[in-house]
Amino acid sequence: MTQTVIAGPTTSAPHENPHLKGNLAPVRSEDDFELKVKGRIPEGLRGAFYRNGPNPQFDPGPKYHAFIGDGMIHGFWIGDDQRAHYRNRYVRTDRWRAENEAGRPLFGGMGRPSDPSVEKIHGGGANTNIVHHAGRLMALQEGSNPFQMDKASLDSVGWVETGGRFTAHPKMDPETGEMVWFAYSAGDQPLNPYLDYGVSGADGKVMRRDRFKAPYCSMVHDFIVTRNHVLFPVLPLTGDLDRAMRGGPAFGWEPDKGAWVGVMKRNASVDTVRWIEVDPVYVFHPMNAWEDGETIHCELMEYPTAPLFPNADGSEGQDSLAHLVRWSIDLSDPAARVKRTPLDDLVGEFPRFDERFAGLPYRHGWHAANTKMDETLEFDALAHVDLKTNRRTVRPLEPGDTVGEPVFVPRAPNADEGDGWLLAIVHRAAENRSDFLILNAQDIAGDPAAVLELPRRVPAGFHGNWVAAGS
Ligand SMILES: [Fe+2]
Repeated sequence: MTQTVIAGPTTSAPHENPHLKGNLAPVRSEDDFELKVKGRIPEGLRGAFYRNGPNPQFDPGPKYHAFIGDGMIHGFWIGDDQRAHYRNRYVRTDRWRAENEAGRPLFGGMGRPSDPSVEKIHGGGANTNIVHHAGRLMALQEGSNPFQMDKASLDSVGWVETGGRFTAHPKMDPETGEMVWFAYSAGDQPLNPYLDYGVSGADGKVMRRDRFKAPYCSMVHDFIVTRNHVLFPVLPLTGDLDRAMRGGPAFGWEPDKGAWVGVMKRNASVDTVRWIEVDPVYVFHPMNAWEDGETIHCELMEYPTAPLFPNADGSEGQDSLAHLVRWSIDLSDPAARVKRTPLDDLVGEFPRFDERFAGLPYRHGWHAANTKMDETLEFDALAHVDLKTNRRTVRPLEPGDTVGEPVFVPRAPNADEGDGWLLAIVHRAAENRSDFLILNAQDIAGDPAAVLELPRRVPAGFHGNWVAAGS
């Protein structure tokens, strides 16, 4: 075991800020651990699991929001002979380096400079997702270019230029190898209503990047891609520079603005985007989307109002909870609206699926769940939904334990859809450390295939992905 303490003491005391409490508190060391393996690691599971999350290098101010902390990558390498290794490293962005050199925080709320010395330094923390495309491992945060990390060492390589802002949620097309992506607030001024639509080829080169105007400036965290279409949800978590300059919230819930989904053919001009109305709800994450003739279906985690943000008038927002809902759009109907069909009453977030079927008809999904139905940021269970039988299976955790986004890995490249393993990092509250679970994806409530034990905790974070050995 090696350990390098990077900055500041580890925050382990209870914290007033809800974005730093419990397992949301950062760890301040960069470590290498050989993991203790309980059970047997499946033969076909060889590669690395990477997970990103916010981990502020220094204790931030009272306005800290989990969306802005410095990115930290947690990597789990699974090799032969039942061996598994863990390594975590900060994403050394420009902001991280400036603050590290200064020995104190220089950026404030929502990542904006709080010190004149860093006004020209980009405030992105690359803290939200970690994806692999065209041989590059890239840490992502909306609003910044991707930031490349070395796949083996997790050393910081640097920004990957895409011509502007980017998203934390690009989609990998399983048929073409393309990476399909977008950016919001894509124009030159802060908080503007422009969206960019982009495609990178299987070789990683940007093939197109085109700008168009949305009905208003909205926080568009994720988007929707099918085999032939791309959909941009513009939901009323509005961004407003004038409002922010008057002391109001930069982003606030404003349902009176209405809500829209922009739909276009993937290979068409952005001039053809058609805006289709949807009830004013909020979505961070779709699960998957697919086409049935002229109708597009998308299963997603839908909130009645935007959680974690104030109302547009500055009043405190609602502690809104998400449920699995299907959106359906009949493109043959000139007066089409989004039809919303609730699928489950279980509170959930972080939906995933077998991504070999991205944009295609599919059956199986998995997500983090909250069986107490009381929290936006903490999940005490994992869930598997079978969209064919409408059956849901839940794996509850021990009381106090929490879990993040589960990630599916197929048993073999040509295995049936949903046949494989589900990976998840669980915080063991009683011991204040974490376990890496390897579950049978078709029997998540059963005994794990293996549990990889960590000697310390992995802070709660956002998104992760599996990269198979040799890819
Ligand atoms: Fe996300």
